[in-house]
Amino acid sequence: MEDLNSFSRRDFLRGVGALSAAGLTLWAGGCESCKRQIQQRPTRRNIANLPANDPVIQAYKDAVAAMKALPASDGRNWTKQAEIHQNKCVHSNWWFLPWHRAYLFYFERICRQLSGYNDFALPYWNWTSSPSIPAPFWGAGNPLLNTTRTATQASVANSSMVGSATITNILNQTNFFLFASDQATTQQEFAGYGMLEGTPHNYIHGFVGGDMGAFMSPLDPVFWCHHNMIDCLWVDWNINRGNPNTNDPNWANFQFADFVDETGAPVTVQAIITVLYPIFSYQFEACGPTTLTAKISDRVQLEKFLREGAPAKLEFVKRFELRQSLTAELQKPASGSIKIEPEAFRSVLESAGKDKAVLTVDEVDVPEKQDVFVRVFINKPDASSQTSLDDPHYAGSFAFFCCPSESSMKGHEGMAATGRPKAGYLVDLTPTLQKLNQGGSLSGGQLDVTLVPVPFDERPPTTQRLTIGRLEVGVARF
Ligand code: C2O
Repeated sequence: MEDLNSFSRRDFLRGVGALSAAGLTLWAGGCESCKRQIQQRPTRRNIANLPANDPVIQAYKDAVAAMKALPASDGRNWTKQAEIHQNKCVHSNWWFLPWHRAYLFYFERICRQLSGYNDFALPYWNWTSSPSIPAPFWGAGNPLLNTTRTATQASVANSSMVGSATITNILNQTNFFLFASDQATTQQEFAGYGMLEGTPHNYIHGFVGGDMGAFMSPLDPVFWCHHNMIDCLWVDWNINRGNPNTNDPNWANFQFADFVDETGAPVTVQAIITVLYPIFSYQFEACGPTTLTAKISDRVQLEKFLREGAPAKLEFVKRFELRQSLTAELQKPASGSIKIEPEAFRSVLESAGKDKAVLTVDEVDVPEKQDVFVRVFINKPDASSQTSLDDPHYAGSFAFFCCPSESSMKGHEGMAATGRPKAGYLVDLTPTLQKLNQGGSLSGGQLDVTLVPVPFDERPPTTQRLTIGRLEVGVARF
């Protein structure tokens, strides 16, 4: 280990933020110990694979207890960390993924510092394979317990939101905006949910409930392991499956000035730097429904691919409004329909077609209690919460995650009079339309979209109705 002294792991990790120019040279030449550091970077593991007495779990407990004990004047204090989220969190736009990645990156370093366990890597909660809140988060006196949760240890997350079919469908999206949420100009603009954020991400917040159901959610230690799963799925999409992030400089060069490092000192992170963390600073034990390895195995090429990204566009060549101002009730789903001009949808329906049919569910009034989610069906006007997810007409789901207190929404744009945002969701209808077309059930020339509100669990939900501003299907060219 002697030869590592000149450039310790800690120095290296600290240096990553400044790597913007140095990275490529680092692989190409010289620094042998850097290469070793990178190869030996910590592995973030599935918490279900860690024994109860694993040092990682103990270190996480120690770190959370230490953060709770810090004075409020210290930026690493537990509540202070959650306030970063409450005040500056990025949702429903294209910085959702990089912002939360950077937030976790510094949190993990704080945990390493305060637990004294230098090999600490934040574990993740894989809700696809373990749909209940994992055992390490339970037990009286446990620093990882949060007593405000509405889910119990026995509650099981809904497979329509976190199951492997749903996650595979999301990972199969090649469009950056559909995967990673929509383009925006300011950090806290609600531009539109992509499928990763709008479906499993939002759902798990509401499923856990309590603190997790709103913007002080990082008060629940499960928050960090939930977002770590989201981060891992981004790695799976971006690195393993080789889907590029956008190369828009407005995305890449954006600076987040919201975090503190392991000493409590403020740090600024550029969005593009976060795309390199998983090749320089940490790695993941596989989390996707299909175990894959990096599509580009050459390190230099991989780094180049990540830095460069590619043009991402979600251009609607045609738009069809199905309906305006709809109300979906628990027992009474809402539908909208249009006559399909077969010509307009030809490029979508042909299996080799280049175009996609994207549903926009826009200007949804986020309900006061986000205790229902929504399922989308095509040409099934009698769909209900009982309709099987194996029904060929089922096209996808989305959930809400928000903000009970008005103060938590300061700085966000596009707020409704309720103090909560109007949400917009993007759902790719292409696979379902193709399936229905092959089965002959689109031949009537009618396209009908039904939105079914579904309660989170057996408990009767507070939310009885959802108001939706606009339902639109667009033919999108990526
Ligand atoms: Cu910023 Cu899952 O929350």
